Amino acid sequence: MLNLKSPMVVVSNRLPFVLKRNENGELQRKQSAGGLVTAVAPVVIQCGGLWVGWPGIHMDDPHQSVPESDPGDMGPSAGLKSEQVVPVHVEEQLFDDYYNGCCNATFWPLFHSMPDRAVFVADMWEVRMEFGLVRSAACLILSAFDCSMLGLGLAIVNMSLPRGQSYSTVNVMFAYQTVDALKKMKMKNQEGEERIPLVWIHDYHLMLAANYIRQECEEQNLQCKLGFFLHIPFPPWDIFRLFPWDNEVLQGILGNDLVGFHIEDYCRNFLDCCQRRLGCRVDRVHNLVDVAGRTVKVRALPIGIPYKRFEEMANAAPRALQSSQQIVLGVDRLDYTKGLVNRIRSFERFLEKHPEYLGKVALLQVAVPSRTDVKEYQQLKEQMDLEIGRINGRFSTLNWSPIRYIYGCISQDELAAYYRDSSVALVTPLRDGMNLVAKEYVACQVDKPGVLILSPFAGAGETMHEALLVNPYELDDVADTLHRALTMPIDEREMRMYHLKKREQTMNVDFWLTSFLKVSIKTFPGHNVIGVH
Ligand code: F6P
Repeated sequence: MLNLKSPMVVVSNRLPFVLKRNENGELQRKQSAGGLVTAVAPVVIQCGGLWVGWPGIHMDDPHQSVPESDPGDMGPSAGLKSEQVVPVHVEEQLFDDYYNGCCNATFWPLFHSMPDRAVFVADMWEVRMEFGLVRSAACLILSAFDCSMLGLGLAIVNMSLPRGQSYSTVNVMFAYQTVDALKKMKMKNQEGEERIPLVWIHDYHLMLAANYIRQECEEQNLQCKLGFFLHIPFPPWDIFRLFPWDNEVLQGILGNDLVGFHIEDYCRNFLDCCQRRLGCRVDRVHNLVDVAGRTVKVRALPIGIPYKRFEEMANAAPRALQSSQQIVLGVDRLDYTKGLVNRIRSFERFLEKHPEYLGKVALLQVAVPSRTDVKEYQQLKEQMDLEIGRINGRFSTLNWSPIRYIYGCISQDELAAYYRDSSVALVTPLRDGMNLVAKEYVACQVDKPGVLILSPFAGAGETMHEALLVNPYELDDVADTLHRALTMPIDEREMRMYHLKKREQTMNVDFWLTSFLKVSIKTFPGHNVIGVH
């Protein structure tokens, strides 16, 4: 367990739980079970830190405080007290423009090197507005909320703020709320030692927040250190430059003192962009960028999973797949970056090439609904339904269908059992920041080991060398590799899985968090002293 002496303030688009209304209309926390929350929430709790984020619900009364956890709640953020949670309330239309519009319809495809899918509507993402102006607008909205004048807040959003400022406005709102919370924090411990908070900003939703926090802190004479981690790829210069306000985004990220990416390739892309677009001096040996009299440290910090938890679940879960057939498993959010259509067509190709497997093997694809308000995601859902219907119609018999398709959420225990009982995991994204499914599959191989087939276009492909790597664009390659996986001798499977497991066991999510904190200690000497017990 990490022991952090200075408080950590996590700033992320989502809080570590979402708020839902129960049947009596009361707000309740619904825990998120992701690796980030599992690793980071206990540290925030231990160091008396804060979590700033969107609560997942649009509230009529934004003054209503976040409820404490239910008494029986055993989730990782259950110990986070109400006063440690800073909900950022964003009016519905503004949130829609920022999250569905700018974040998920522009940055998401662009950063995944799919510019053709990116919607470039200046209205959604223009960030040129002067900081002062955006701040005044954001403050007006927040203070209107503060005075219970929700109507006025909404009127300001609708009238004074052009939709174009959605991204920067929401970033300012997050920054303003963060600084407001910092003001209330005790900056000294009981021994009178200084506790300078480490503000850790997450992901592409909040790439402008650091500079706003920095400026606001300077004005208010507050101290803090700023770190950032991007959970998705950072694209090459040639792609990144397609975004007309690319320099503002770069400057926004450089507002931090420490910037983390999953892998070295993303660091290199970022350094290229800083040098070529902003003309910054870049040290490629030590991964440093000089900007505005400061030096920003850039680091590859590959995220891992709560390995032990998955292993334990796999050991405990009852058998899920009562079938004599071999199962090839895919688990993904329903997202076009995951290469799902290519995957099921590859499976079709496999059945064409190897008819001896008809009736003996099935693809089980779990697709978790995601960003269902965005057009691209709705279209993908339709395309999947059509393709799966077509392939099943082509090959199914009375007792067997080639593709079993679950569109929905499944429990973590069920998931662990599926992982454990599948012969092969097909993890074939067209582009992916890291991909944790590959790692979870490995952690759950507690019985006879299966085979991991992995795309090199996922960050995980850089370290998981013992997986079978395939190009998801080449359907024949995937089909042939699937055949190789299904016929792989047990000793080769064991040998590959042994090494994969060993690496993921060590480079788990706690290792990622500790690595970030260790770099942050070196970056901010004297602050954030940690001990690892
Ligand atoms: O991988 C990037 C990411 O934004 C994660 O942080 C998040 O868990 C996931 O995608 C799902 O995205 P959303 O928050 O839009 O549902």
